[in-house]
Amino acid sequence: MMKTPDELSTPSLLMDVTRVRRNAERMSARAVDNGVSLRPHVKTHKCVEVARIATEGHSGAVTASTIAEIEAFAAHGFKDFTYAVPIVPAKLPRIIRLLTSGTKVNLLTDDPDMPAELDKAARAAGVDFDVFLKVDCGYHRCGVEPGSKEAVQTVRGISDAAGLNFAGILTHAGHSYHGNSKEEIAEIAGAERDVMCEFAEELRSSGIPVPVISIGSTPTMTHVDHLEGIDEIRPGNYVFFDAFQATLGSCGFEDCAITVLASVVHRSFTNKKAIVDAGSIALSKDRGPVDIDGGCGYGRVLDLAGEDTGLRVGSLSQEHGEITVEAPALLDKLKVGTKVRILANHSCLTAAQFDHYEVMEGDSIVDRWEIHRGW
Ligand SMILES: Cc1ncc(COP(=O)(O)O)c(C=O)c1O
Repeated sequence: MMKTPDELSTPSLLMDVTRVRRNAERMSARAVDNGVSLRPHVKTHKCVEVARIATEGHSGAVTASTIAEIEAFAAHGFKDFTYAVPIVPAKLPRIIRLLTSGTKVNLLTDDPDMPAELDKAARAAGVDFDVFLKVDCGYHRCGVEPGSKEAVQTVRGISDAAGLNFAGILTHAGHSYHGNSKEEIAEIAGAERDVMCEFAEELRSSGIPVPVISIGSTPTMTHVDHLEGIDEIRPGNYVFFDAFQATLGSCGFEDCAITVLASVVHRSFTNKKAIVDAGSIALSKDRGPVDIDGGCGYGRVLDLAGEDTGLRVGSLSQEHGEITVEAPALLDKLKVGTKVRILANHSCLTAAQFDHYEVMEGDSIVDRWEIHRGW
């Protein structure tokens, strides 16, 4: 028997699978039109079924943010991963187990000491590691400055090691999330591409082959004008989008695919507010696009049909979300037990709070898909 969202317990995580398919098709076409490989990031959804949709018509290669994701996806037939967090030696035994069972896992590093460590572990285990150099294209989270002494030294270390294969150079323009307009994001996207192409050229002209240039975030891959010189893109968030991306202009609000179903548990006409049972555990405490929309709060309150009520979740505690409701007529509708859907700021963080998606097609819940959490 198919259910409707109204029959679910709260909080639950709803996924509009029609929107997921449409978002995936758009990014897939963008990759094809630009002649680049698509290696979507699964960190957003951590879900095998969603990854199958996102990789349809492509090689099936994906990017992962945890080894737990890789292990779970490998158990479901995925064979080609990039583990997109710099590697540390203590994690190598799990990587080696994956490699020896026939799973390809590209690693990345930005540290000149790591090639020797990786080489030692590879030789001891009788495997080869494929290793990317993580480059900083302006985000300043991880990665080496392109062209710097550390960058060249690390690449040489990887290329010269018998147990390592230099996979190429990889970057992520996470600073695009702080762009205030489409033009600003397009500029960051152009720089992400150009910085990488110029650095690859520098390495190539000094005799080091660069097999792959890998870039990508959802804002930059949405707004970039061309991808000449790039081999691979790794966007992730675009399958779901969220209130943040819609406010940035990467999508419309009608493209956002996940919402948290919540119940009104309290209302007060005196204090002009309603409280729902989705707090910071269910929604995450990502502040969202506050630079563009100071009133975004922690999420948009939609009705069960998905229409924006105009209300916002203004504050959160662990299991409570507080919504200011100035209009008595609106508060009158929000009786205790009423269900609403909350479009949170950052879908990746929200999805990671749950064990499964309630898969929606139209108004019906048609399936339940697992979320592979952990590290
Ligand atoms: C290394 C790396 N690559 C790709 C992505 C995907 O970016 P987005 O979620 O904006 O699509 C991320 C996201 O954090 C990342 O850290």
